[in-house]
Amino acid sequence: MPPSKAWKLIYQRLLLYKKLDKMQNNSIQVKGLQKSYGQLHVLQGVDFDVEKGSVFALLGSNGAGKTTVIKILTTLLKRDGGTATVNGFDVGEKPEDVRRSISLTGQFAAVDEILTGRENLIMVARLRHLEDPSKIAQDLLNRFGLTDAADRRVSTYSGGMRRRLDLAMSLVGKPQVIFLDEPTTGLDPEARIEVWKIVKELAEAGTTVFLTTQYLDEAEQLADRIAILHEGRIIANGTLAQLKKLFPPAKVEYVEKQPTLEDVFLAITGKKEEI
Ligand SMILES: Nc1ncnc2c1ncn2[C@@H]1O[C@H](COP(=O)(O)OP(=O)(O)OP(=O)(O)O)[C@@H](O)[C@H]1O
Ligand SMILES: [Mg+2]
Repeated sequence: MPPSKAWKLIYQRLLLYKKLDKMQNNSIQVKGLQKSYGQLHVLQGVDFDVEKGSVFALLGSNGAGKTTVIKILTTLLKRDGGTATVNGFDVGEKPEDVRRSISLTGQFAAVDEILTGRENLIMVARLRHLEDPSKIAQDLLNRFGLTDAADRRVSTYSGGMRRRLDLAMSLVGKPQVIFLDEPTTGLDPEARIEVWKIVKELAEAGTTVFLTTQYLDEAEQLADRIAILHEGRIIANGTLAQLKKLFPPAKVEYVEKQPTLEDVFLAITGKKEEI
């Protein structure tokens, strides 16, 4: 074989290994994702990767397309273009495999009001064909501080309790990737902090967490990486420290003001000219 051909082969092999390595380290890979509703081009080529066992926060204003991204990744909606894989499975071609390895806590709580908290959890465990649904339910009720309310109908729960139950339901069966669409919207500060604690514990245990939020402090608290979705594209993606570097601190005399993530967000999305 001529040397040039041999080098070409080696190069191609290396590229393949690099691609495989990337797939193994990433739970989610999205490239050139597109979606329109009629004339409204919501996603116009969205790219990002989410590393296994990390917390990834997708930020964006109302209507930016965050829920649309989540719906495509959880196989509830078909993409128009681009590629998206979750746990190595293409969301369009292998939706069953994707669904088996994920869970979704939607923007609006999906608990059954007529059932009790315990019954909701047992129902999900049965739907997932798991052994010993009662034990799974009891463990989750303990973990989420819902033991006292376990046998009350969910219609009597507060907003925070419903959210906690909703989160508990998404953990039945220990999914590898969990999607949380605005997990703390409408919660009081105490309940928010509780949810944050749970998300941190999940990530520490190796679960990949993909969350959307409009609360910038939530992303600051939780996320290993933060991406900002704006006008159909990801316009910034990095760690909090990297995003803060995009926005140099303003100096007032001798006091250095560190930008908050909110300052970075507003500056990048052009909503605020200066701080
Ligand atoms: N089924 C649909 N049909 C038509 N338009 C839709 C549909 N679903 C969403 N849209 C529009 O697409 C855009 C993106 O919606 P999406 O729900 O993804 O935004 P979002 O970032 O999750 O917003 P929010 O922060 O309010 O939850 C919005 O303008 C919305 O009105
Ligand atoms: Mg939404």
